[in-house]
Amino acid sequence: MVNWEHFKWKYLAALFLAVAFSWSNAQEGDAISGDPSNGESLFNTHCAACHALDKKLIGPALGGVVERLQDEQGLGRDWLHSWIKDNEALRASGDEYAVQVFEDYNQTLMTAFPQLSDQDIDDVLAYTSNPPVVEEVVEETAVASTDESSLPVGALIIGFSVLAALLIWLLVKVNTLVKLSTAEGGELAMEDSQSFAKVFEKNKKLAYAVLGLLGLLVFYGLWVFMIGIGVDKGYQPEQPIYFSHKIHAGEQGIDCQYCHSSAKYGKVSGIPSPNLCMNCHYQIQEYTGDYVEEGKSKQFYTEEMQKIYQSIGFDKDNLTYTGEEEPIEWARIHNMPDFVYFNHAQHVVAGEEAIKNAKGVDQVCYACHGRVDQMDEVQMANDFTMGWCIECHRETEVDMNNEYNKEYYAQLHEKLKQQYGEEATITVDAIGGLECGKCHY
Ligand code: HEC
Ligand code: HEC
Ligand code: HEC
Ligand code: HEC
Ligand code: HEC
Ligand code: HEC
Repeated sequence: MVNWEHFKWKYLAALFLAVAFSWSNAQEGDAISGDPSNGESLFNTHCAACHALDKKLIGPALGGVVERLQDEQGLGRDWLHSWIKDNEALRASGDEYAVQVFEDYNQTLMTAFPQLSDQDIDDVLAYTSNPPVVEEVVEETAVASTDESSLPVGALIIGFSVLAALLIWLLVKVNTLVKLSTAEGGELAMEDSQSFAKVFEKNKKLAYAVLGLLGLLVFYGLWVFMIGIGVDKGYQPEQPIYFSHKIHAGEQGIDCQYCHSSAKYGKVSGIPSPNLCMNCHYQIQEYTGDYVEEGKSKQFYTEEMQKIYQSIGFDKDNLTYTGEEEPIEWARIHNMPDFVYFNHAQHVVAGEEAIKNAKGVDQVCYACHGRVDQMDEVQMANDFTMGWCIECHRETEVDMNNEYNKEYYAQLHEKLKQQYGEEATITVDAIGGLECGKCHY
């Protein structure tokens, strides 16, 4: 589906990207003591769910936080390192500001990040002090905003721009040559350009055909590229551990929310930590199941399991922990741009029945993520574009009788009934599901 509103944006974004690309690279040199572009990707993976640079979300705005804490609280980087690694421990140690900020934010728990190294934290802090200049544009266009993709995207744009420039140059050149060769003052033209013009004149049709084809090719490339930005259906990155949902959720029937437990309570579903894996893999150390994906083997699965132990520092022969941990860096598959607000709880709890009915699925997750229980590797099952959200909001009838909605929409429901009649179907758009502010910060 082509959405012109989107297209315009992406066109602009694409134009800026070439500039942004070189610019953001140039910026890296100014870092205080970390790599802001690595910091940016760490920030997006670990912090962006609760923090933005320029405004308060669930936690405080983090733009310039190093400077702010230094100026206002006299706290240095050490404090930030301790806080980010384990804020609860810092509070428990009696740190005054740690307790105060927790109270200021109504005791909202920030996740602990023991897996981040000091260098990682310095990188994140470098990013908060010194974000790449045209960050928004880069964010919007980078496919699924992963690191690996921003380079080819930038390179592609530059490639296309160069091609386009070449083409224009050629056209102008040819045009003047044709004019010169046909003009009366033809003697002004140089020898070789005359001959070039003659050749061109002779093979006019062929030359135009070649030029036309080139033009079409460039245009087609740009078109496909721009339509593709932000639409990642089918996106399936390689993961550091070959973790099979088909084996865990399908064969073993483990409930999605056993591992993605925050889907019910919060904005994000989250990826389980290795500690959770150990609930089972403390015992289960090799693969003995019947299911084996084509091209894989039991041996392969068993080897993949060992990566959990390596990550969490578990010596399985002695059943002891060595303390040598290294994080599993799962590649993030779904990642909305920062300016979009999506809340799992709203859909998984309040919307559960409505969505299951509308999409005819027996697990609410499948409506948006597809049959994850049948995927060896998770891939993006839908477009996850604005049009996709809106389409479902237009179609899905709200379940006004569940506890959540009874409480929240009691008055609204009465009004809607008066307006549309007792029997009318009330879809999500009627309760505000098409309002820009509901989905955008
Ligand atoms: C689950 C939500 C959540 C995540 C994820 C999160 N934070 Fe926080 N953060 C908070 C909240 C809430 C506060 C306010 C204090 C409190 O309630 O504990 C906070 C406070 C902070 C503060 C103190 C800021 C100040 O002004 O005093 C810093 C620094 C911080 N977070 C950094 C980070 C970094 C870096 C990451 C990512 C590695 C991160 N946070 C991830 C929720 C989160
Ligand atoms: C045993 C734990 C476990 C269970 C059970 C589980 N998952 Fe996952 N899930 C993971 C892990 C680990 C990842 C990260 C690796 C990956 O993407 O495969 C993940 C990734 C995902 C992702 C992609 C996240 C991203 O990066 O955007 C989705 C979507 C997802 N799971 C949905 C489900 C659904 C739906 C179910 C139930 C059918 C389910 N999961 C059951 C552990 C689990
Ligand atoms: C609720 C129990 C449970 C949890 C939690 C769990 N697993 Fe498993 N896992 C299993 C079972 C059962 C098998 C299959 C064993 C068999 O059939 O012999 C398995 C198999 C595996 C395999 C081999 C097959 C495959 O998927 O490639 C890997 C690797 C694996 N688990 C990784 C993980 C990781 C990583 C986590 C944490 C994100 C995790 N598991 C969490 C129960 C669990
Ligand atoms: C209405 C559609 C919808 C439903 C229903 C839904 N999800 Fe999601 N899910 C999303 C979107 C959109 C994102 C991307 C969120 C983002 O990037 O901010 C996402 C992201 C995720 C992620 C990646 C981590 C994160 O939270 O960003 C996991 C894991 C996940 N979903 C699991 C689940 C599970 C498990 C269920 C069922 C309990 C579920 N989802 C139900 C739309 C949905
Ligand atoms: C499969 C259908 C479906 C999809 C896809 C979907 N939603 Fe929803 N959404 C719902 C339903 C149903 C509700 C109403 C839940 C309730 O009963 O409160 C809802 C409610 C909301 C609300 C609250 C609206 C209000 O007025 O209170 C927001 C915000 C929202 N969705 C955002 C999104 C975003 C952002 C996306 C895309 C990333 C999305 N939704 C995709 C079904 C969907
Ligand atoms: C149901 C949720 C929802 C509503 C309502 C909504 N948006 Fe969006 N919007 C999104 C999502 C999700 C994206 C990101 C799409 C992507 O990354 O492909 C988006 C992207 C955008 C973009 C960036 C263009 C792009 O393609 O990345 C603009 C501009 C925008 N929305 C404007 C609006 C305006 C104006 C309104 C009100 C008329 C609105 N949105 C209402 C969910 C919503």
